[in-house]
Amino acid sequence: MMIEKRTLGLTGLELPCLGMGTWRTFDIRGKPEQHARKELVDSALARGVRVFDTSPMYGESERVLGACLTGRRDRAFVATKVWSPDPTEGQRQIDRALHYFEGRVDLYQVHNLVAWRTYLPVLERMRAAGTIAALGITHYQHSAFSEMEAIMRRYEIDTIQAPYNALDSACTHRLLPLAEERGIGVLVMQPFGEGTLTRTSPPSAELMQFERYGVRTWPAILLKWVLSDQRVTVAIPATSNPEHLEENLAAASPPWFNDAARMEVTRLAARYHAG
Ligand SMILES: NC(=O)c1ccc[n+]([C@@H]2O[C@H](COP(=O)([O-])OP(=O)(O)OC[C@H]3O[C@@H](n4cnc5c(N)ncnc54)[C@H](OP(=O)(O)O)[C@@H]3O)[C@@H](O)[C@H]2O)c1
Repeated sequence: MMIEKRTLGLTGLELPCLGMGTWRTFDIRGKPEQHARKELVDSALARGVRVFDTSPMYGESERVLGACLTGRRDRAFVATKVWSPDPTEGQRQIDRALHYFEGRVDLYQVHNLVAWRTYLPVLERMRAAGTIAALGITHYQHSAFSEMEAIMRRYEIDTIQAPYNALDSACTHRLLPLAEERGIGVLVMQPFGEGTLTRTSPPSAELMQFERYGVRTWPAILLKWVLSDQRVTVAIPATSNPEHLEENLAAASPPWFNDAARMEVTRLAARYHAG
């Protein structure tokens, strides 16, 4: 069944919404770590997080996420990726992911546009057959945005995934306006700049002004900055820490920042970011 691109069929959720990335954080082995990730997914699902993003590029992450979702696959919206220049290996990745996620992937993305001409037709056939609900493309580099735009214009893709945070708004120049024009869903990677933005917080006196938006901590403020852009469908910060998940959830509901509040966050990020 095909889904509405902009909302990804995430009915009942306030959009933009909070999802969860799995790069590094779910690339783990061993029972204690697996148990800890299962508890993290328990908390995320209980608090309304539905979208989990993974990839065969992330080591054990697909397998670990699949194990965390055993017995409740239907409660999650799984976004994974195909990532290989070799179509035979790409097909192996797809077969493995379908095994991990009980025969169905909600969103299949071409990771970093690798061999996209090969995989888009494959994913289109899977979408037509109902094995996946949606297909998309991702890239983390600004230099790839023009190619992403060309694909968005020419192919029936459902989503794009790109970096977007208080110190990296390159996607707002052309990518997000085009996504809005074509009704394409937007997944935001690196909302914390791979964690670098959370390392130094502005002083608490500077953060008090955001309390009326329901956020008190710097990470929650950074995340609310992303989610306050109504062109975004879902932001997918990665975390392995239940307290960080809790903190991030504080950012996931209205009231959203107005333009002035967003500009103030950008100013603070530029001033206090230690690099
Ligand atoms: N090309 C692609 O397709 C591509 C590229 C990059 C990323 N992605 C996707 O996007 C997801 C997110 O990007 P990302 O993982 O690179 O970076 P990110 O989400 O910007 O940052 C993740 C880092 O932020 C930390 N963090 C999370 N919440 C925090 C909080 N409340 N306070 C302090 N630190 C916090 C995490 O550490 P803790 O574990 O300590 O919380 C983790 O180290 C990835 O996991 C992946 O699923 C896709």
